[in-house]
Amino acid sequence: MAVLLVSKNVLMLLSLTIFVTLQMMAGVVTGRLLDNTKINIMNNISEPLLVHGWFHNDHELHRLLPGESHRYKFFKTPFIKMVWACTFEWKGAFHRYDIYDSRRDSCYQYNCYWQITEDGPCQIVHNYTEPLCFSWNY
Ligand SMILES: *[C@@H]1O[C@H](CO)[C@@H](O)[C@H](O)[C@H]1NC(C)=O
Ligand SMILES: *[C@@H]1O[C@H](CO)[C@@H](O)[C@H](O)[C@H]1NC(C)=O
Repeated sequence: MAVLLVSKNVLMLLSLTIFVTLQMMAGVVTGRLLDNTKINIMNNISEPLLVHGWFHNDHELHRLLPGESHRYKFFKTPFIKMVWACTFEWKGAFHRYDIYDSRRDSCYQYNCYWQITEDGPCQIVHNYTEPLCFSWNY
């Protein structure tokens, strides 16, 4: 059992190391491999909204007044599957949503736009006239 735990930790450390190395390599070799992706989140609720994302460079709590936005920036590499989750909290409500999934989202020119409503997050998809709305899973 202990052996299993240790090897799991080593494996995690190893994959983390590979991940970091790949990110650095990509940055050194060519800027094109390393895409600067931005996720814009707007509060479309009539109450202040607390947004908490676990991005490696931004895991603070952001308080957005109605109509305000926050932008997350990160580096996307083509080799690695990435999923970033955020929680959304306002008076009497708490939800979690995978706001970015590299296999699901193809953000136009590396810009993803989301508008957060009480019923769920809505994505602004390039060439769609209406926002694409989803319901909260959590
Ligand atoms: C969110 O608010 C903006 C600005 O008021 C508005 O243009 C947009 O249609 C709203 N989106 C949704 C999904 O309600
Ligand atoms: C989508 O947008 C691009 C660039 O804005 C445009 O060139 C293209 O014709 C649009 N495609 C459709 C199906 O509307």
